[in-house]
Formats: sequence, C-alpha cells, structure tokens
Amino acid sequence: MYLAGGHRLIIVDNLSTGKRQNIPAGAELVEMDITDPGLEKMFDRFHPEVVNHHAAQVNLRRSMEEPLFDTEVNYFGTLNLLECCRRHPVRQFLFASSGGAIYGDGVVVPTPEKALARPMSVYGTNKLCGEGLIRSYAEEFGFTATFLRYANVYGPRQNPHGEAGVISIFLDRLRTGGVPVINGTGDKVRDYVFVGDLVAVNRFLTAKGLDGTYNVGTGTGTTVNALARDLLAALDMTMEIPHGPDKPGEQAISVLDASRVREAMGGFAFTPLAEGLARTIRVEGT
Ligand SMILES: NC(=O)c1ccc[n+]([C@@H]2O[C@H](COP(=O)([O-])OP(=O)(O)OC[C@H]3O[C@@H](n4cnc5c(N)ncnc54)[C@H](O)[C@@H]3O)[C@@H](O)[C@H]2O)c1
Repeated sequence: MYLAGGHRLIIVDNLSTGKRQNIPAGAELVEMDITDPGLEKMFDRFHPEVVNHHAAQVNLRRSMEEPLFDTEVNYFGTLNLLECCRRHPVRQFLFASSGGAIYGDGVVVPTPEKALARPMSVYGTNKLCGEGLIRSYAEEFGFTATFLRYANVYGPRQNPHGEAGVISIFLDRLRTGGVPVINGTGDKVRDYVFVGDLVAVNRFLTAKGLDGTYNVGTGTGTTVNALARDLLAALDMTMEIPHGPDKPGEQAISVLDASRVREAMGGFAFTPLAEGLARTIRVEGT
C-alpha cells in the first residue's frame, strides 16, 4: 500500500515468522531484529518519515510460557524503535496493537475504545504498555501516534501461530486431507477481520496523518463452531469436526466496536466473514 502511494518502503524484519517471498517487489528488506542496538544505523541511513510498527512476538500462549521473551521483543523492541525516533524525528508512528488481547472479559460487547483495558496475558499487557511508551514519546518529541487495535485478523499467507491462527490452521488441515480439532466446546466468540480491510485502514490513517486509538474489527461475533461450519461451506466439504480439550487462559468473547474508524473513513464497510474466507481460499488455491 505504501509503494502504491509512491512512497519508499523499507521493511525491518528478522524473518522469525515472516517470509522473504512475501516482501513486495520494490520494497527494501533490512534483515534485523527490532531489539538490535544497531537499529539506529537504519534510521541514519533511511531517515524514515513514518514508522509503521507491526513486528512482534505474536503468540499469546508463548507469552505466558516465555514472558521474558515476549517482553524483550514487544516491550523493549518498541522502546528501541522509539529511542531511534528520539534522535531522528518522524512524522507519524503507527502501532499494531490488539483489541483481541487488551480488553479482557467483562467489558461491553461490541467493545469500544473507551472500555477499560485489562489484558489477560503478557502479550496483551506488553501491547498496552507499548501504547503507553509510544504516547509518551509522541508527546515529548512531537510526532503523531496512531494505535490500531486489531480484532482477530485472517487472510492469505497467514502465520498460524498468531492471534487468529485458527483459520489458517483449519484451512491447512482441511487442504491437506487432515481433520481440524476444535478446542473445548467451540463456544468462544471472536471478531474475524480480513487483512485487506487492515490495509485500507492503515492507508487511510497514514494518508490523513490521524492520531488516536482505533479498534479495527467487524463488530460481528462468530463462535469457533460457526467458523468451522463456514469454512466447510466455503470449501464445499462436509465432515464432523471433533472437539479436544479446552485451552485455558483465553477470554470467552472478543468483539470490537470499530465505529470510530468506520465513521472517520466515511462509512467504510468491513468484509463479511464468508466473503473474506472465500477470498482467502481463492488466493491460497485450495
Ligand atoms: N493476527 C492477528 O490476529 C493480530 C491481532 C492483533 C494484533 N496483531 C499484531 O499485528 C502484527 C502482525 O502480526 P501477524 O499476525 O501478521 O504476525 P506475523 O508473525 O505474520 O508477523 C510478525 C512479523 O514480525 C517479525 N518479527 C517478529 N519478531 C521480530 C523481531 N524481534 N525483530 C524484527 N522482526 C520481528 C516476524 O518475522 C513477522 O514478519 C503484530 O504486531 C501483532 O501483534 C495481529
């Protein structure tokens, strides 16, 4: 999206889960860890005007098993980037935060940005702390801070270990003749948002240079059982999907009220789940 807008695009990624073949033609890859003290050399070389920070340890369960690692990447990595912005002023800093992991249970549904943030994981806590760090640097050093609190994102070429890995895992199993397993009763409710909609939102918020916090989700909740049915329908398949043990520590329901960004974008319509699943399957060639 930045290339299409005529910008020069430098991607900093350590390729821990990212793949070289997903780097778009025309973008320049700097293979580096965001916690690397040498990150500043990259700022010296390219003088970025906009920093769009999406690099992260994205596995919520791993954050509970290896909290120090999650904190190293998601908290100190963000701080390392901000230290570069202290010495090399940027115009705007966009941050991929998490509406799925920040709010926790017991909030109004669909959940608006003003709801109390009470994360239930180290991952969610570090995302919330990351927002705080960025806000304080933005105030001190005079740049625009834009927080994108994503719901459960899905789409082609997805990392199955991230927050909304269920779609990618189910698709992979069904495509290779395997049988997916639903953890627990399958009644947990999530807000699945198509990656193409994130591109539109990022493009808009960058072009307008808007600051503030924006939920990015459809406002529609889907249980894992219903998701499994939708996936089977999209693939024109029928089968009984078995249930396995529940995974503890996950909230029961997460659905976001994204009216703030929808209205800012003049009534943007998020892609319905059935359409997004069909597009994902088409691109992945199932
Ligand atoms: N997928 C979701 O449902 C979801 C929901 C909310 C927020 N997010 C956020 O969106 C962003 C992208 O997530 P994703 O789901 O596309 O996951 P992903 O794993 O596909 O993307 C993360 C990227 O960060 C890179 N990376 C990881 N650690 C790094 C490090 N130390 N230094 C440099 N690069 C590093 C990885 O190689 C990868 O390219 C993340 O910040 C994530 O927390 C995702």
